[in-house]
Amino acid sequence: MANRDGFSGKLGFILAAAGSAVGLGNIWRFPYLAGQNGGAIFLLVYLICIFLLCYPIMVGEIAIGRSAGRDAYGSYTKLGGKRWGLLGLFGILAGVFILSFYNVVAGWAFGYFLNISFGDLLNESDYASYFGGFVNDIVNLKSAEGITKSNLIFSLLFMVITAFIVGQGIQKGIELANKIMMPALYLILLGLIGYALTLPNAMAGVRFYLVPDFSELRIQTVFDGLKQAFFSLSLGMGCLITYGSYLNKDQNIPSSAAIISIADTSVAFFSGLMIFPLVHFLQYKLQITGVATAGPPLIFIVLPQIFQEMGPVLGRIMGGAFFLLICFAALTSTISLLEVHVAYLVDQHKMSRKRVVWILALLIFVLGLPSMMSQGMVPSLNKLLFYRGQDFLTFISDMCDISLTLGGCLVCIFVVRTWKIKNMNVELNYGNSNYQNSFLRTYINFAITYICPVLLGILSVLIILEKFIGLEVLF
Ligand code: PHE
Repeated sequence: MANRDGFSGKLGFILAAAGSAVGLGNIWRFPYLAGQNGGAIFLLVYLICIFLLCYPIMVGEIAIGRSAGRDAYGSYTKLGGKRWGLLGLFGILAGVFILSFYNVVAGWAFGYFLNISFGDLLNESDYASYFGGFVNDIVNLKSAEGITKSNLIFSLLFMVITAFIVGQGIQKGIELANKIMMPALYLILLGLIGYALTLPNAMAGVRFYLVPDFSELRIQTVFDGLKQAFFSLSLGMGCLITYGSYLNKDQNIPSSAAIISIADTSVAFFSGLMIFPLVHFLQYKLQITGVATAGPPLIFIVLPQIFQEMGPVLGRIMGGAFFLLICFAALTSTISLLEVHVAYLVDQHKMSRKRVVWILALLIFVLGLPSMMSQGMVPSLNKLLFYRGQDFLTFISDMCDISLTLGGCLVCIFVVRTWKIKNMNVELNYGNSNYQNSFLRTYINFAITYICPVLLGILSVLIILEKFIGLEVLF
């Protein structure tokens, strides 16, 4: 395809793909899922899922994208015919829904960043009710210092920043933004870990996080580990196909995919290494227990309390740094999500990138409103009758998780039955002439042909049943 923008080289691609992978999934979701699933044992299951199941699929997706050189829909259609194009569309649609709720949570983090750094958030006395008010009342909250607390405004701003970056194109927008934000993110994270490890009782947190207790292993741990691994690596919805399509033939895909997986996993790992010492410090300080299992609000309710304990100056610096870290992580992911949809419209419908970006951003923002209003503002969205009384945001996020694992299973079927493993291997040989005779090739081929589709198929069906009829009924 003529005149298609592309990454400038290996570093640009790796940073952008790692930026897509590193996100709220690593810093918000991974720690709370680990907290709920026994800490170290969850980490272990997660690592197995990443390297056994996800890595080969990542290699496959990038190869599909680079071979076809088109957006997700176009790539499947080019390599497998119109029927497979549906899988591309399915992924693009999943991406639209992910971005719709993701942007809401990113808006919360952005609001916390502004209100800790420049507002009065650290003067609150009850962070659970603060968070409840913040997510519930989406328009009216006004802080004493004049900074708005409206999460409607924060998510709108977040979407505007995302659209602005994507509108600049691949090299001048996405690549540049990632080259700045990714190193900054690592620096902030390492700084925060260094600090967290010096706090009293930090080692109890490290133990909880690193010493597995096998009696905590449950089927739920496996479900959560798998869905988290897929979400975290941005797999199963065409994101890496799209990024792969901007990659040059002289780049080594298996090694890039390994670096991306390690970069992503290390951020999740380090987030746990920062959060659990902080959480155990708080438990010690306030003489309470069970903080680690707080669930989705973990970072919004527990962490501000910790920053408050640090005093007004240090708390503002550490708290501001922490929420800035989350904003950077979220932004590198929202731009990749929006790029999937933009690439589709630009490639397939020859629309102008600049225009399409703003239209899509607005539409997806509006699509996120029910998720935003489901946190208490609208009772019928807060307790969905058809979804066992859970809220709409949880429902959408669960449906997206299911689409990603199912999508991963279908990617394997596509490669094996339609595109053919031998064509994938030819593609992977470009930029890596030793690949053909390597053990890695044998493993990736075996995993994509047998292990991944079978395990992902079974687990996806079990997860669907679990979501709709409940685990108690299932087992
Ligand atoms: N991987 C991102 C995260 O961990 C989320 C994401 C999913 C981004 C799918 C793009 C595509 O936060």
